[in-house]
Amino acid sequence: MRVKKNIVLVGFMGTGKTSVGKALAKKMGRPVIDIDRVIEEKEKRKIGDIFEKDGEPRFREIEKETIRAEALKEGAVITTGGGAVLDPQNVEALRNSGYVIALLASPETIFERVRNAKHRPLLNGKDMLAEIKRLLTIREPHYRQSDYQFQTDGRTADQVADMILNALKEKP
Ligand code: S3P
Repeated sequence: MRVKKNIVLVGFMGTGKTSVGKALAKKMGRPVIDIDRVIEEKEKRKIGDIFEKDGEPRFREIEKETIRAEALKEGAVITTGGGAVLDPQNVEALRNSGYVIALLASPETIFERVRNAKHRPLLNGKDMLAEIKRLLTIREPHYRQSDYQFQTDGRTADQVADMILNALKEKP
């Protein structure tokens, strides 16, 4: 595998992008670029505050600018927010920057992983499982456009990272 290419993790909230990204970066000796964290540092506020004060469309603009800039870097593991792949320009920038890997999980697994988290504005105050199912139906086709897909149900972050590493070994 070419060293410079980024490894880009996409997938729904709760599929383990952040924890798998960390495990993978450690195993590969690469830095992690977590797009949501870059946004929070740049904006000096939490993602939830951006949604609350400026609305989702403004968040998506900031997300897009951030992805465009960060995708130009090389040799990193890039982790994205669950909605990043809905924008075709984001997808193009990410595809040009490296291998795009989608993490998948069933709605029930996602629900178990996110039910106690307070920092996911899209799920707050809603019937969480129903909302997860609704959004997944819309988003699954986008996640499936990636170079690789890995089912994460019942697997640890470390196991998923090893599966990704094995798949990438075959790459030029
Ligand atoms: C979002 C997922 C979040 C964050 C924002 C929007 C989404 O990231 O980017 O709340 O649209 O699914 P995670 O997937 O890391 O939770």
